[in-house]
Amino acid sequence: MKIVTAIIKPFKLDEVRDALTTLGVHGLTVTEVKGYGRQKGHTEIYRGAEYAVSFLPKLKIEVAVPANEAEKVVETIASAAKTGQIGDGKIFVHSIEHAVRIRTGEQDEEAL
Ligand SMILES: Nc1ncnc2c1ncn2[C@@H]1O[C@H](COP(=O)(O)OP(=O)(O)OP(=O)(O)O)[C@@H](O)[C@H]1O
Ligand SMILES: [Mg+2]
Repeated sequence: MKIVTAIIKPFKLDEVRDALTTLGVHGLTVTEVKGYGRQKGHTEIYRGAEYAVSFLPKLKIEVAVPANEAEKVVETIASAAKTGQIGDGKIFVHSIEHAVRIRTGEQDEEAL
């Protein structure tokens, strides 16, 4: 199993979620985060306003999937979240050792 963590522009959430739903992803977690990339110290546009600060609001999306589906999830998020402008975000993939679906007790891939 893999967990795909994507940092995206907040206004891209609906597009990314719709694309993942179409792909058949069963669940995801979204967290409001702040961060910066290579343009640290430079400005980036957020909702029409220029932020002169280093930290910009982003969303972190986490999707746990069977390992053989991870690359497709990465491609789907990358395509849906892309504007072509700076600050589009990053995607990281980690391995998951174990998963449990609490209600049913199902384990690992069956729990996803
Ligand atoms: N190396 C990193 N480690 C952890 N988080 C990162 C890293 N790079 C970027 N991020 C996160 O992703 C967000 C978006 O990064 P961003 O897309 O600006 O990266 P970038 O490398 O500057 O690319 P671009 O040149 O397209 O802007 C950042 O605000 C931060 O939350
Ligand atoms: Mg950047």
